[in-house]
Amino acid sequence: MGRIKSFIHKLSADIKSLGNKDIDFIQMRLLVSNITPEFEQSIKQKVSQGILKTEIREANMEDIDSLIKLHDLAWHSAPMPYRPLDKENIVKMLKDENVIFLIAKIDGKDSGFALIYFTGTDRKISVIAGLGILPELQRKGLGTMLGLASWDYFKKKGVKELRCKVYKDNKTSYNFIRGLKFEEYDEDFVQWKLFSR
Ligand SMILES: CC(C)(COP(=O)(O)OP(=O)(O)OC[C@H]1O[C@@H](n2cnc3c(N)ncnc32)[C@H](O)[C@@H]1OP(=O)(O)O)[C@@H](O)C(=O)NCCC(=O)NCCS
Repeated sequence: MGRIKSFIHKLSADIKSLGNKDIDFIQMRLLVSNITPEFEQSIKQKVSQGILKTEIREANMEDIDSLIKLHDLAWHSAPMPYRPLDKENIVKMLKDENVIFLIAKIDGKDSGFALIYFTGTDRKISVIAGLGILPELQRKGLGTMLGLASWDYFKKKGVKELRCKVYKDNKTSYNFIRGLKFEEYDEDFVQWKLFSR
């Protein structure tokens, strides 16, 4: 009886997760414990050889226009559905203690952003809900630098697991995320909490 009950329970959970599943996206995750010092060092070394001198900061209310622009330009450079990020939404997110925006600045110009939120029991899971680099500055290591800055941030906050979703046709993004050691997984599909209204 117990086995039948647990089978039915699993079946209903599977059906529910299938209903939630967005088949156009690949779900990826990385356990923070898999970011070994050696791996982090090798990534740092790789980007330090680049030419970009980058400052990364946490965004505030003064950065709203910059975030809208960065998001718009980065998103239109990639094959994925466009989800506009408007002022009202950004203000809401900046006021939410579970959400952070990081901005990367190069030569005095905002050039990339990462949008992250904390979830799960005790905020132990972080979701990278958006990451974008100005088209003319892509493939120069800036996305990786933002990834590294996010890792530092996550570690300080005691996060155990990072998650994200990659649009199936966005091969660049998939390669990028795989390069940061994220792996595909299937259960408990991440919902787009921030962009959907
Ligand atoms: C995806 C994105 C954030 C990557 O940032 P980036 O600064 O261009 O990436 P990096 O220079 O740090 O590249 C790191 C690695 O990612 C992979 N990568 C990056 N761009 C790539 C491309 N055009 N083609 C294939 N692989 C690519 C490579 O493995 C690269 O390492 P390598 O240069 O040593 O081969 C950037 O391309 C972007 O903003 N795209 C549009 C928005 C988007 O797709 N966001 C979704 C992110 S989850």
